Amino acid sequence: MKTDQYTAKDFSFRKACPEIPNTTYLTHKIHSYPAKFIPHIPRWFLKEYGRSGDTILDPFCGSGTALVEANLLGINALGIDINPLAQMLLKAKTGLADNHDKFSSQCLHAVEQAHNYPASYVPDLPNLDTWFLPQARQELAKIFGYLLENPDQLPDRVVNFMLVCASSIVRKVCNADPQISKPFISKRMRVLLKENAVEQRALHLLKINTNLFLDRKIKYMRTIANLSEIWGYLPTSEMVMNTDARTLRNIDNQSIDSIITSPPYANAQEYFRSIKMELYWLNLLDGDRLKQLNKDIVGTERLPISECRDTPKFGIDKLDLALEKVHLVDQKRAHIVLRYFQDMQASIQQCYRVLKPGAYFGLLVGDNVIRKIKINTHLFLQEIAEDTGFSTEIIGYDRIVARRLTPKRNVSAGLIEVEWMLIFRKPGL
Ligand SMILES: C[S@@+](CC[C@H](N)C(=O)[O-])C[C@H]1O[C@@H](n2cnc3c(N)ncnc32)[C@H](O)[C@@H]1O
Repeated sequence: MKTDQYTAKDFSFRKACPEIPNTTYLTHKIHSYPAKFIPHIPRWFLKEYGRSGDTILDPFCGSGTALVEANLLGINALGIDINPLAQMLLKAKTGLADNHDKFSSQCLHAVEQAHNYPASYVPDLPNLDTWFLPQARQELAKIFGYLLENPDQLPDRVVNFMLVCASSIVRKVCNADPQISKPFISKRMRVLLKENAVEQRALHLLKINTNLFLDRKIKYMRTIANLSEIWGYLPTSEMVMNTDARTLRNIDNQSIDSIITSPPYANAQEYFRSIKMELYWLNLLDGDRLKQLNKDIVGTERLPISECRDTPKFGIDKLDLALEKVHLVDQKRAHIVLRYFQDMQASIQQCYRVLKPGAYFGLLVGDNVIRKIKINTHLFLQEIAEDTGFSTEIIGYDRIVARRLTPKRNVSAGLIEVEWMLIFRKPGL
């Protein structure tokens, strides 16, 4: 199929997967994450193109939505994400315990023990006192101190699960406005601070979230245990470590049965800034690491201005025209967009390398308006995929209904009302 010559299909993923009761069922409820898939999207793709026993990959797996759905269908899953929180979330959502009651009681024991733990842990977070009032700081210090030091030698899976529960309450007791994803002390919060009305009770909230997440986790583990009796095996979920969507290092050629993913958008979202509080409390970040992550992210805005003077050229006529127009009004932003497409090209080429012949690749993306110029991201990615060797099977869209998108877009970015689903196939068999 040639770019521009297709009839777009209305996917309406929610209707296509009526068996999914809501977007937060089972372990999807655990922890928030910017720009999550609704589970219906990977579920639809995997029902169409997956088979039990297959191994699928999500190279931008974020909170692991696709991997959870894969396992629920008896499919093994690999995930990649440069965000260090992703691995913890995946373990919390898909990890299994032999004895569910013991797992629950160990988690609840941790909640109780944290109450009495010394509040001596201090995260590396700059301006800690600005972000948290003394009671919240003290209670978080007890919780994270206890979990990270693990004096009771709780099993790794318990500590990991509890760290995820603890991480989920950080923003709830923070002075930053919970309605704005990027940490920011808004006017509204300043009023609440004056009135002494900012939530401080980290230990209390930990208990609530632990019970809520445990309930989901136990249901998930029971569901998988019942299904695996029918399947005769337990599907696995694993993060591939020390790699990146642009290299897929550590993944063999032609080893993957299908890929389903949603990469970041063309106008970079600062994923790490929106969850930096959590990452610091979890001791997963220091200033240098944050800088590196913000450079490595697909859609990075960290480009030296000296590299942005020349007119950007990618090699796709319509994209180059759009880049030229953006460059006239904003040189740096034009190069940010160019870099996005270069990174996405590297990632698409790697996806081609690791897929088996005849395998399918589902890519969910949104278009953008940058400096009032429309960037048809989905069409350009389609052309890149076809140049790489993929054939286009289906192009369609899904209307965005109340999805929690990443931090409020830069003023120069347009709102995305539909997301595009591109289905490609690698030639062969
Ligand atoms: C749209 S989110 C994916 C959300 C995911 N589908 C979910 O349901 O949670 C895009 C993800 O790409 C990740 N990412 C950005 N650049 C990356 C890179 N170079 N390699 C791997 N992951 C990257 C971000 O950390 C983010 O988690």
